[in-house]
Amino acid sequence: MISKRIACIGAGYVGGPTMAVIAMKCPQYKVNVVDVSEARIKAWQTDNLPIFEPGLLDVVRAARGRNLFFSTEISAAIRESEVIFVSVNTPTKTFGEGAGKAADLQYWEKVAREILRESGSSKIVVEKSTLPVKTAQTMENILNANGKKVHFEVISNPEFLAEGTAVKDLLEPDRVLIGSRETPQGFAARQEIVDIYANWVPKDRILTSNVWSAELSKLVANAFLAQRISSINSISALCEKTDASVQEVARAVGMDSRIGSRFLNASVGFGGSCFKKDILNLVYICESYGLQEAARYWESVLAMNEFQETRFVRTIIREMFNTIVGKRIALFGFAFKADTSDTRESPSIYVARKLLEERAFVAVTDPKALDNARIDLAGYKENLDFVEDPYEAAKGAHAVAIMTEWAMYRSLDWENIYRSMEKPAFLFDGRNVLNHEQLYNLGFNVYPLGRPPLKHF
Ligand code: UDX
Ligand code: UDX
Repeated sequence: MISKRIACIGAGYVGGPTMAVIAMKCPQYKVNVVDVSEARIKAWQTDNLPIFEPGLLDVVRAARGRNLFFSTEISAAIRESEVIFVSVNTPTKTFGEGAGKAADLQYWEKVAREILRESGSSKIVVEKSTLPVKTAQTMENILNANGKKVHFEVISNPEFLAEGTAVKDLLEPDRVLIGSRETPQGFAARQEIVDIYANWVPKDRILTSNVWSAELSKLVANAFLAQRISSINSISALCEKTDASVQEVARAVGMDSRIGSRFLNASVGFGGSCFKKDILNLVYICESYGLQEAARYWESVLAMNEFQETRFVRTIIREMFNTIVGKRIALFGFAFKADTSDTRESPSIYVARKLLEERAFVAVTDPKALDNARIDLAGYKENLDFVEDPYEAAKGAHAVAIMTEWAMYRSLDWENIYRSMEKPAFLFDGRNVLNHEQLYNLGFNVYPLGRPPLKHF
């Protein structure tokens, strides 16, 4: 007996996994996931899912065909559902007013108009995408400016899952946030969404708030997470100058329970589809309310991230005797983090481009992200190779640079790799995941992040 019909428009990294978990946990609901992309939908219908996410296939298989359906029939899904989640992408605007900062809401508005056109009954529209604060207002204005006798209540239910741990994050979320209007209809819609999550999330983890707080909280959570990384990355630069170790500093600082130990890993820079986009969006919003100082503050988090990427490339060039022309450099990892095939805003993209511009020969290896890497570097025809096998990538290389913290890189036979490389052999660990002393003892010149290098000359 179906007790609720749910549609989700946008079958991406957010919409797909979220709906799969709702369907698995709530067999009494029918969940239709729809998308304009036929290729994506086709992939969701097979066991070759369009995104790699640990554990996701099992969740999808548990519900697909039972109460979870993937299709391109957007209109039909809208018509038959009482609750419509929207998780279409909201990229940074590339044109006109706010270009380079503001969120491009054209897909969202298009979807809102489609919902309006197709709806013959009242519906709850749930913002799953990350959106600028006050977007719900615009959506309500579009949706409720209709001659029809239907009412739309807009709910903000931002998604906090991180890629690579999406299934776990969805099954055991730190919190689920549901924002609504504080009117009788708003409260009723809020409760409907609370009821969905209450099927598996403990009540004390389901937070409710007004709709503006919910919208803004998502931007702020991402900004705070990114800010921690930029903070520790700024300290990594200082550690390299002062013989301190950034890992020791992070440990000492993180054991203060007021600070906490997570998200203090220095890296070549944060990537992913969210951090940069959402901070730019926050900056734009601050600016549009005349809060220039607040805007500059958050902008500096991005400036520090760029500095870290630039610094990494500069170190490579400087330490390899100021020229990398014709030298083979193996990039270990292209995904923006481990356990995902996603390369959006990956620091590897910047690093690969810079190395190619310096006329190095770049060999890219990654266990899951090579298809995306090929797309990201499509403009480069020469001096570039994509290799499945890390040993092959390193063969004849002058340097290996660790770009993604894939667990497999720790257990490689580094002695074998060292033997197959040109000498002197360089290792730049952009994630601080390897045993640097051991590598040094094998003969590598090792450049950790935030620690003085271990060199043989
Ligand atoms: C999500 C959120 O929705 C975004 O706001 C957040 O800030 C980043 O994460 P994500 O799921 O990662 O986006 O995006 P993506 O994988 O690009 O998926 C979006 C999907 O929406 C795509 O499959 C795209 O085909 C679809 N789409 C887009 C539509 O179905 N209709 C449109 O009009 C536009
Ligand atoms: C992030 C948020 O964590 C999530 O809550 C939100 O819903 C979407 O944006 P995601 O981008 O998928 O998730 O991954 P995350 O684990 O946050 O990592 C982002 C980037 O920061 C990665 O490039 C990662 O390698 C980097 N990172 C993370 C560090 O450099 N150091 C750290 O200590 C942690």
